[in-house]
Amino acid sequence: MARPIQLYAFDMNCVGHINHGLWTHPRDSSLRYTDLDYWTDLAKTAERGKFDGIFLADIVGVYDVYQNRPDAAIRAAAQIPVNDPLIPLSAMALVTQHLGFGVTVNTTYEPPFLFARRMSTLDHLTKGRIGWNIVTGYLDSAARSMGLARQPEHDARYEAAEEYLEVLYKLWEGSWADDAVLRDQKGRVFADPARVRAVRHEGQHYRVDGIHLSEPSPQRTPVLFQAGASSRGQDFAARHAETVFVASSSPKSARVLVDGLHKRAAELGRSGGAIKVLNLVTVVTGRTEREAQEKVEDYRRHASAEASLAHYSSSIGIDLSQFALDEPILDTQTNANQSALAALTGGREGATMRQVIDQMVLGSRQKPIVGSPEQIADHFQTWMEEGGIDGFNLARTVAPESLTDFVDLVVPVLQERGLFKHDYAPGTLRQKLFGGDTGRLPENHPAAAYRFR
Ligand SMILES: Cc1cc2nc3c(=O)[nH]c(=O)nc-3n(C[C@H](O)[C@H](O)[C@H](O)COP(=O)(O)O)c2cc1C
Repeated sequence: MARPIQLYAFDMNCVGHINHGLWTHPRDSSLRYTDLDYWTDLAKTAERGKFDGIFLADIVGVYDVYQNRPDAAIRAAAQIPVNDPLIPLSAMALVTQHLGFGVTVNTTYEPPFLFARRMSTLDHLTKGRIGWNIVTGYLDSAARSMGLARQPEHDARYEAAEEYLEVLYKLWEGSWADDAVLRDQKGRVFADPARVRAVRHEGQHYRVDGIHLSEPSPQRTPVLFQAGASSRGQDFAARHAETVFVASSSPKSARVLVDGLHKRAAELGRSGGAIKVLNLVTVVTGRTEREAQEKVEDYRRHASAEASLAHYSSSIGIDLSQFALDEPILDTQTNANQSALAALTGGREGATMRQVIDQMVLGSRQKPIVGSPEQIADHFQTWMEEGGIDGFNLARTVAPESLTDFVDLVVPVLQERGLFKHDYAPGTLRQKLFGGDTGRLPENHPAAAYRFR
């Protein structure tokens, strides 16, 4: 097989994810996000399509930069309300056998000790299918909710996250030796206390003196995902991440990111294959090109450009309501999401609001790819070859139709072309993605330095 495509279904525990307004389409079911079977059905469909995983986004604030208030986001359900992404996962694991789960948790607001246990619990219950999308946040509204005046500076958030990971590695990898757990019913010894030790960490941001509460789980450290694309974000990813989610608008710009990441990782002693890169994509397909075109025109009538502007204003930390349609948006530094701002102004002198809104076909800044299954497959092939990426992260449009269409129409074409697997590899999520016999991080990953020796 040529380099196989990896596929994730991108979703969020909320009504409006990134293609805003589409929940108003009569066939959309995302208003049912509070029902557990909405999530178990999603997992079953993704596994039927042999997806590598479901990736759940999360934020812990609201989009209130646009017009300096959260009204547009609330009206349009633009990621508000948003429920906890971890809670549905054990039910989703119960109805699947192989599907991976990448779940977003923000390092800035959760104490590492408790977070370490929640992820270990999920790694046990999913039999080693859990991954963590490490984010540092970009919303001042989240910071205010958590008792801070505003969020820490962009690069300082990554510095704190480095220490957060050090604490986690100590807990996940180093608190219990591999042979600590004996489960000896006859001898009445569950675990050998000499092989379990407290983590003692005193750093700039965190202090921990305690034993990791969970016994070693199949992967110990969950598969590490990351999605920051600024220079500091890429440094962080190169050190820690096993899979990086990007949102490039062309294979050429993806190639720059991919090469940059691999180069940085190699400098840190991690091989080129150690990091997979997946690009965000919105697909609208049908049995024919015409059917796909008709579908996107139908969807389009339900899209909300205003909700998208509200989302985007918070992503870049600039109130886009202040610009007239043909006024250039200033290319300023921002303390929010630097790569999103760069993607918008992207070196282009004087991008205007009209140009930004023009891109928002389905209520997101991501233009959808529209076509027959063969055309979508062609598109994916081009991106893989020219962009050097490893796969795609599929945003939902009208749910669950967009996923079932993809699974029923595009997956068979990708499989026929030898670009996509017919079945899952055995083992944990890490083994399915990278091979290996243990499901644990390799020795050249920084986490390995903290193992119980
Ligand atoms: C595909 C993709 C998914 C993301 N998902 C989340 C998310 O769920 N929660 C979040 O807070 N940030 C998310 N982000 C934002 C990044 O994690 C990061 O905070 C942002 O890109 C700012 O970092 P940077 O300036 O290094 O790019 C996502 C970014 C991308 C490209």
